[in-house]
Amino acid sequence: MYNPCKEKKKEPIILGIESSCDETGASIIQGRKVLSDEIASSANIQALYGGVVPEIASRAHTDAVAKVVERAVKNAGITYDEIDAVAVTYGAGLLGALLVGVSFAKAFAYALNKPLIAVNHIRGHLSASYLDEPSLKPPFVTLLASGGHTAILYTKSEAEFEILGGTLDDAVGEAFDKVARVLGLPYPGGPQIERLAKEGTPCVAMPKMLKGGGGYNFSYSGLKTAVINYCHTKEQKGESYSKADVACSFQCSAIDVLVEKTVLGAKEKGVDTVTAGGGVVANGYLRETLKKACDKAGLKLVLPQKRYCTDNATMIASEGLIQYELGNFAPMSLNAKASIPLTVTLESK
Ligand code: KG4
Ligand code: ZN
Repeated sequence: MYNPCKEKKKEPIILGIESSCDETGASIIQGRKVLSDEIASSANIQALYGGVVPEIASRAHTDAVAKVVERAVKNAGITYDEIDAVAVTYGAGLLGALLVGVSFAKAFAYALNKPLIAVNHIRGHLSASYLDEPSLKPPFVTLLASGGHTAILYTKSEAEFEILGGTLDDAVGEAFDKVARVLGLPYPGGPQIERLAKEGTPCVAMPKMLKGGGGYNFSYSGLKTAVINYCHTKEQKGESYSKADVACSFQCSAIDVLVEKTVLGAKEKGVDTVTAGGGVVANGYLRETLKKACDKAGLKLVLPQKRYCTDNATMIASEGLIQYELGNFAPMSLNAKASIPLTVTLESK
């Protein structure tokens, strides 16, 4: 198969484009070096509606995508011609939002006669760890914790993955967002819960999370319902309660189980490295507890910088680089997909 990487001596330059939800991102990397990282977000507008409105997201991407890509190329100090490949998120995510990024990337790659790379958004989150630790090599175990997914994955090699377990219902980020809404906090709720939790203590009783019996799986709907019931009961009885204590108790419950099972997975698979990715990994409490647990277990922890945990195009470029080196290029018929299995690179049609 044609692999332009083999013909070039310099580290490849990849343009990454991300538009799966409410962030329009464009980044340029050379090897694992980040040359530029641009983002335009419609989160402020979405916050007025308490969550992401798909049509607003699509329109915002349409407005922003060309400007963001232009800025990324300019700030990287390169010419269009120096780009070796265009990597774009083709799923999973909001279909209309994805279509904007995919269509733009296709037109851009076609016009410049550059190869196109289709990136699974989740694989992008997994590849964020390589940005901070370019020497990172599989095997390792990864905690994936985002708004749409919660899973523990075993990466055997850059092309082989195994899902050790995942959520049986809500994703952990979704639970943060829903609990935030109940506590009257704006969207996106995760950072708001983290901020409020710092003022509280974990003194509100929360239901037991799926532990040993659940293998590596998780369930967040019970925890979410318990918080809703606690707040509503207090309000109905006219009793006051501390929202900070509720936020803190929820955060501990939601995160402790993730940390515990990630370390367990690493021990069972016999790896010496743990990585993490997804928006919830920006959470300071998660980062601290995972670090402590890994230190205690003698495991090396590679955490992406917070900006590379939430949606961004640099992680898409980072995964694009892996696919580039594997020679996995996408056809010009590439289409967007609302859902893709967690570990798939590019599904055949
Ligand atoms: O990975 P991401 O940006 O988008 C998806 O692919 O889903 O994750 C977004 C999720 C949201 O649910 C958001 O509330 C959560 O990540 N999040 C956080 C924090 N920052 C973002 N959750 C807890 N603490 C944070 N600091
Ligand atoms: Zn994401």
